[in-house]
Amino acid sequence: MTRLDSVIRRLTAQRNLLNWAVNEIEPTGLILELGLGNGRTYDHLRSRLPDREIYAFERSLAAHPDSCPAEDYLIMGDIFETLPLFAERMGLGCAALIHADIGSGDEVLNRQLAKRMAPLIEPLLEPGGLFLADRAFDLPRCTNLSTRVGVAEGRYFVYRRAVKAEPVAHRPSIAR
Ligand SMILES: C[S@@+](CC[C@H](N)C(=O)[O-])C[C@H]1O[C@@H](n2cnc3c(N)ncnc32)[C@H](O)[C@@H]1O
Repeated sequence: MTRLDSVIRRLTAQRNLLNWAVNEIEPTGLILELGLGNGRTYDHLRSRLPDREIYAFERSLAAHPDSCPAEDYLIMGDIFETLPLFAERMGLGCAALIHADIGSGDEVLNRQLAKRMAPLIEPLLEPGGLFLADRAFDLPRCTNLSTRVGVAEGRYFVYRRAVKAEPVAHRPSIAR
């Protein structure tokens, strides 16, 4: 497989899963886009969910001007600082869908990033809320649906927060 093939397959999986998720999510709850980047997936989400509140998070703004959220819906800064503040402002369990596409080509760094992010993501999801990501996460309160949604193994990842909170041995803290 060439690198071009690989990119096309990854983006196809990403788009297919975003399309799947917008039909699966609960009728209430925020949509969070972690890593606005060029704004392509943000633009896709807002076109599919025109009536939902979508917040985009980014530390270094480089989005296409047509794909930039309004100021109130753009959260600038490192997500490890902005997500805990957002959770304080909006409340835990505020998100129906979180999409994270913030990895790099460095797999070691990506694994560290996912490990640090996991305790921030899970408490933000409402019961039944979906988390889509470009890499695997360890989320004890969520079910991993990645192999059940028609995407080749390892290409994109999907998790659903349990509807009823499951007790877990270690309660992740959202505090910084
Ligand atoms: C691959 S791009 C996202 C592309 C986007 N999904 C699109 O379709 O255009 C990843 C983005 O995540 C941002 N990012 C990475 N780590 C971040 C962090 N810790 N906090 C905030 N933004 C971050 C980067 O600045 C980059 O713009």
